[in-house]
Amino acid sequence: MEKPFSKFAPFYDEFMLKLVNYDAWVEYLIDIWSFFNVKPKIILDLACGTGIPSIILLKKGYQVIGIDKSKEMLNIFKKKINNYPDLKKNLTIIESDITNFNLNIQVDAAVSFYDSINYLLNEDEIERCFSLIYKFLKEKGIFSFDMNTIFVLEKFWANNKFIRESENLKTIWENKFDKKLKISTLYLKCYLKNSNESFTEFHQERGYEYKTIVKILKKVGFKKIKIFQHLTFLPARRDSLRVMFVALK
Ligand SMILES: C[S@@+](CC[C@H](N)C(=O)[O-])C[C@H]1O[C@@H](n2cnc3c(N)ncnc32)[C@H](O)[C@@H]1O
Repeated sequence: MEKPFSKFAPFYDEFMLKLVNYDAWVEYLIDIWSFFNVKPKIILDLACGTGIPSIILLKKGYQVIGIDKSKEMLNIFKKKINNYPDLKKNLTIIESDITNFNLNIQVDAAVSFYDSINYLLNEDEIERCFSLIYKFLKEKGIFSFDMNTIFVLEKFWANNKFIRESENLKTIWENKFDKKLKISTLYLKCYLKNSNESFTEFHQERGYEYKTIVKILKKVGFKKIKIFQHLTFLPARRDSLRVMFVALK
């Protein structure tokens, strides 16, 4: 069994770009910044992975600091950014855990895309991550991140199997939901189409009550907090599939 985002890393973009409209998501993020009347220049992208959203932000003229603990995902990011020499000077990549990192500057905004915060499996990890974000945000800085809801992990992923295919892979996504811990465990089996090779990665995501996340954001110091249904400005509901948290310093 491989660790998450190791062997899958070279195939991540071909899968995600089919599943997720990152351009629309970044536009939504920019709308959120306007809604809260902030005009960030330096953005911290937590759990940046292969840098899909970071590169969109760089192309729009923002400075980006990307942090991720997966060397394999960051290697893909580094390879891609070499195709954009003029953007490279506005990017810093840090290989680190988002619960334990250091920056030598403060940023205007922190962002995190696509379930990354769900990968933190207990409240202590969430608190360590949020308190560092608070520390490295400038006064009036903004932190926006999405989360998968308990509803989606329990009712949709549940104990289901999904078969998905991309250009180079055939995959089976086998989920198991632990009702007590609210943790979804995923065995991601991948078969390479042009060889006999295969591998399985082990992933875990935890769903949190919204009030738990709000409690931790407030505990570390954030003042104003909103929770929207993803890609909208409507209030999050219990049965939302994905939600967007926004917290202001
Ligand atoms: C679903 S991917 C999202 C990547 C990127 N944000 C995107 O939207 O394409 C989740 C990422 O979270 C990273 N990750 C998970 N837990 C982490 C942690 N504790 N510290 C740093 N990175 C973490 C993984 O390595 C992976 O790159």
